[in-house]
Amino acid sequence: MKIMIVVGARPNFMKAAPIMEAMARHNAEGAKSGAEQIEWTLVHTGQHYDSRMSDAFFSDLNLPLPDVFLGVGSGAHGAQTAEIMKRFEEVLQKGYPDIVVVAGDVNSTIACALVTSKMPATAERPRPLIAHVEAGLRSFDRTMPEEINRVLTDHISDLLFVTEESGLRNLAKEGIASEKIFFVGNTMIDSLLAAQKKVETSTVLDRLQLRAPVNGNGSRKIKPYALLTLHRPANVDNRESLEEILEGLKDLAASHAIIFPAHPRTQKQIEQNGLQSYFNFASQDASAPGSERKGISLIEPQGYLDFQSLMKHARIVVTDSGGIQEETTGLGVACVTVRENTERPVTVETGTNILAGVRREGIRQAIRQQLERTGKHAVPKFWDGAAAGRIVEILVQHSAKKLELEHSQA
Ligand code: UD1
Repeated sequence: MKIMIVVGARPNFMKAAPIMEAMARHNAEGAKSGAEQIEWTLVHTGQHYDSRMSDAFFSDLNLPLPDVFLGVGSGAHGAQTAEIMKRFEEVLQKGYPDIVVVAGDVNSTIACALVTSKMPATAERPRPLIAHVEAGLRSFDRTMPEEINRVLTDHISDLLFVTEESGLRNLAKEGIASEKIFFVGNTMIDSLLAAQKKVETSTVLDRLQLRAPVNGNGSRKIKPYALLTLHRPANVDNRESLEEILEGLKDLAASHAIIFPAHPRTQKQIEQNGLQSYFNFASQDASAPGSERKGISLIEPQGYLDFQSLMKHARIVVTDSGGIQEETTGLGVACVTVRENTERPVTVETGTNILAGVRREGIRQAIRQQLERTGKHAVPKFWDGAAAGRIVEILVQHSAKKLELEHSQA
């Protein structure tokens, strides 16, 4: 059976890696029992292409190098999506897998799902099935490009893999047939749990001088610091909204070092809008700031393991990312989300997340609340490190059914 798995942008890599591993496990076990082997192709669209946004993740996550690289790069949404579609169509025609697996909500997700949905079936073979990993999430905010990508991808997918219960409710309300929907858990959390040992080998805390000696006894303690990420166009693409958020961070910057690995989009906006005065510009060497030097330290985007280490040990995380809301819940770290809505409500209901909005007062208040917070939180259902195994089992069952159908048609 042939499975094609698509990645394109940073948040795809950690969702795909455990599925690749689960497929390898299936093959190793199948080799003993005689079960059908999976032949897979990993396609990287190249939506993200900087080594710090892409390459670093392959080694950190043990992802095999892509079999096909489409090299699409940046562009306006229409142009980028169209370019991915054009290049992916050729690959799909040649490879003709039984199933195409797409993940998340980025432009690569909808582009490749759409191409697959229009692949003509022939007398010998039905079109490939589309499997969507992380289906059913909804922010109900259609100004977000990701929301459009989510809704459209779900409506053309054949197998919808859901990470949290809100996804089941959303898909049912939209009339998607229940036999296509599978509540399997979260492959991003699979990656997070699998990486914990390796995360402890990261030296990023030392490079950023976030560990201090304790009273000359030789041991070292992590200083309290905050971690910040911002990249959502609505937050960073104009001066007013970015400045409002930075004002909201002023109290936190006065009491804590804030480490800010900035997305290339955000770095550009800071320069273009002349907002440099809000930041310390730090390099990742010995002269980088420790937490006695407060303020926001702007650093380059980090690889997976270094970023996980920064997140795990942070006193608080402030973000507008989708995935980081989930990872902080997985780790039990306090998170403040600088958005009006979230497509991941379980992180607020049972997790560690607070929605702060995008105005300075709301952000300050949410940060104060999180810094005072104590007590435990629940881990959402199926965020147990085994989601990818469940997915591969379902893929295998459906691929077998599809093969039977092909044989009966031939
Ligand atoms: C994309 C996803 C978003 C995800 C984010 C994670 C869509 C619609 N959005 O947003 O959901 O949270 O990735 O990072 O797919 N750039 C570089 N180097 C890179 C990639 C991007 O410099 O490797 C710069 C380019 O100037 C580009 C801009 O960042 O124009 C935006 O990149 P793009 O992939 O279009 O969207 P993201 O903002 O990264």
